[in-house]
Amino acid sequence: MKKQLTIPKHIGIILDGNGRWAKKRKKERLFGHKMGVVAVKKTIKRAVELNIKAISVYAFSTENWKRSCEEVEGIFKILESSLIEFTSDLKENNIKFITMGDISKLPKNLQEKIEKVIEETRNCTGLIFNVALNYGGQDEILMAVNRCIEKYDKKISKEEFEKELYTKSLPPLDIIINKWRKKAF
Ligand code: IPE
Ligand code: MG
Repeated sequence: MKKQLTIPKHIGIILDGNGRWAKKRKKERLFGHKMGVVAVKKTIKRAVELNIKAISVYAFSTENWKRSCEEVEGIFKILESSLIEFTSDLKENNIKFITMGDISKLPKNLQEKIEKVIEETRNCTGLIFNVALNYGGQDEILMAVNRCIEKYDKKISKEEFEKELYTKSLPPLDIIINKWRKKAF
């Protein structure tokens, strides 16, 4: 009997190796980040075909601010132009765009673009494309704890805690991919 492939509901992808990928090809790190976006687009396209419910992409961590100004600004510019370019594709493919992390610290222009895409894809019912931006695990826990303190005057349950996490509307993660692309494209 042919083995049936189990399609995961929610896949987490940690972007990594963009800089090394570019360096190996004697290119700037930012070129690696641009190609990282191309890889994400390909992944999203395939995820739609496979009927996957959600993809979370870890694009910019709270630690990434420690990089050079030039790289941080470059990454934000790439994110902004990619969002503009990708919005119609998202809508056409019924993809709902959401983010996790504190986007209020990102440049105003980028924040506005993010909010616009979230708004424009709010009613899409297909794949959920979740991008972690200025996201940190400890920050998320702290945010949830502080919200619980404000909300409850008692010990809280796991379910009550989960409601305060960014992932509240997403199915539990089935698989996390964090692998340096040795051979891409
Ligand atoms: C991932 O690639 C992209 C971001 C974190 C923005 P890296 O920038 O971590 O690439 P390497 O690991 O230095 O090669
Ligand atoms: Mg890295």
